[in-house]
Amino acid sequence: MEKTIDETKQGETLVLATNANNKRKLFIESYGCQMNFSDSEVVASILATNGFNTTNKLEDADLVLVNTCSIRDKAEQTVRKRLEKYNAVKRNQNPKMKVGVLGCMAERLKSKFLEEEKIVDLVVGPDAYKDLPNLLNEVDEGRDAVNVILSKDETYGDISPVRLQSNGVSALVSITRGCDNMCTFCVVPFTRGRERSRDPQSIIQEVTDLVEKGYKEVTLLGQNVDSYLWYGGGLKKDFDKASEIAKATATNFAKLLDLIATTYPKLRIRFSTSNPQDMTMEAIDVMAKHNNICNYIHLPVQSGSNRILKEMNRQHTREEYFELIDNIKKRLPDCAFSQDMITGFPTETEEDHKDTLSLMDYVKYHFGYMFAYSERPGTLAERKLADDIPETVKKRRLQEVINKQQAHAKLRTAEYLGRTLEVLVERTSKKSAEQWSGRSEYNTVTVFNKESYKVGDFVKVKITDCTSGTLIGEAIGFSENN
Ligand code: SAH
Ligand code: F3S
Repeated sequence: MEKTIDETKQGETLVLATNANNKRKLFIESYGCQMNFSDSEVVASILATNGFNTTNKLEDADLVLVNTCSIRDKAEQTVRKRLEKYNAVKRNQNPKMKVGVLGCMAERLKSKFLEEEKIVDLVVGPDAYKDLPNLLNEVDEGRDAVNVILSKDETYGDISPVRLQSNGVSALVSITRGCDNMCTFCVVPFTRGRERSRDPQSIIQEVTDLVEKGYKEVTLLGQNVDSYLWYGGGLKKDFDKASEIAKATATNFAKLLDLIATTYPKLRIRFSTSNPQDMTMEAIDVMAKHNNICNYIHLPVQSGSNRILKEMNRQHTREEYFELIDNIKKRLPDCAFSQDMITGFPTETEEDHKDTLSLMDYVKYHFGYMFAYSERPGTLAERKLADDIPETVKKRRLQEVINKQQAHAKLRTAEYLGRTLEVLVERTSKKSAEQWSGRSEYNTVTVFNKESYKVGDFVKVKITDCTSGTLIGEAIGFSENN
């Protein structure tokens, strides 16, 4: 899900979570997908009850935790650079500081991390954060500590995350963990384990807590949200072995969406990420039924070539993808779509690349997140296929895909001119202190004069102008949703 994270600033230092009784200081930063940012909130919560307040000053920290991403080599290099920085701070300013690595790189490299990076004292995989207090005791006693055990259950349903980076308006809520899809390029099934879903009651509880605190928008998170399935606990792949009663009373994604949207009709609901193979018309019908579910779907496709889709082990063809988009548009005519795309997957020809460009022409995505293929150790593609597309070709194709996406984004943004959209105010605009910035339900950033509106208001904004990615408008009043 990396980058679907349109606004999370990678690595951004988190705001403070304070409890007067806590004596030690935690500096925590996150890289990669929204799930990592959400997990860091769980970690801060666990450590808040174990003596740690967060700080945004590296020099003051007793403990530094970095939540890492393995999705591409570059993501790992970014983390290695951060470790160098911690090293320098430890040497020159803060010798007492301990350093822990969390997330996907921790899971991938395990205790090898301790050998490769001398600065690291602690290695903790994505399912082992509850063990952090024990692991920290080990570290306090001078031993390195590692826990990279993956779990069969949704691990953190009972923890109420400390909202770290939040503007008090939008929050992330994890609903599934892990992935069973085994796309051949992807490291996630190895670092985050098998797919499992969280109890709907604990999800509703977390959402209730957010609503009570004044939050106006939630994003339901998972590697693959549409394949959400709660049947009393356990891995998704074991559903077939469940009792008949468990099967009959199971909750799927459509039911979960319906439940949340019905319980909180004024709460804005988003979700990410949807895998085309798991998206159901039942879920689309639920979107159509509720005004508070945003008409925006992140629907990664990765390639427009049937041959490459097959090599990638994606479970649909180009034609099936078109059919899905067409069917969604029949129910939700103005639904916005975004994509993830990979250029230069092994064996990709110019013909395959042209198929990707023509698929984009068909859909004309509102947004896109595009990457050059990066071979990941241990994946099926790495074992089976040579990384045979030269870097220059990968990059040239990537640039062509990006150029096309920019042209489409411009076109899509301009389509909103003259319309009145509901915008949820999130923050002051980066360009002007006199303007608010928020997003429309279609996820497009929209700015308008502040007047007497405030952060967290739903405002009706008439769109008068736009740049390639931002809408500019005039507020014409509160929307009914307030
Ligand atoms: N289930 C998540 C996938 C997470 S990975 C989702 O559907 O969003 C996020 C994106 O990173 C993928 O969709 C893919 O486009 C890209 N990606 C994954 N592995 C990659 C690799 N080895 N090289 C380049 N891009 C990759
Ligand atoms: Fe990765 Fe494919 Fe799952 S991209 S996260 S294996 S859906």
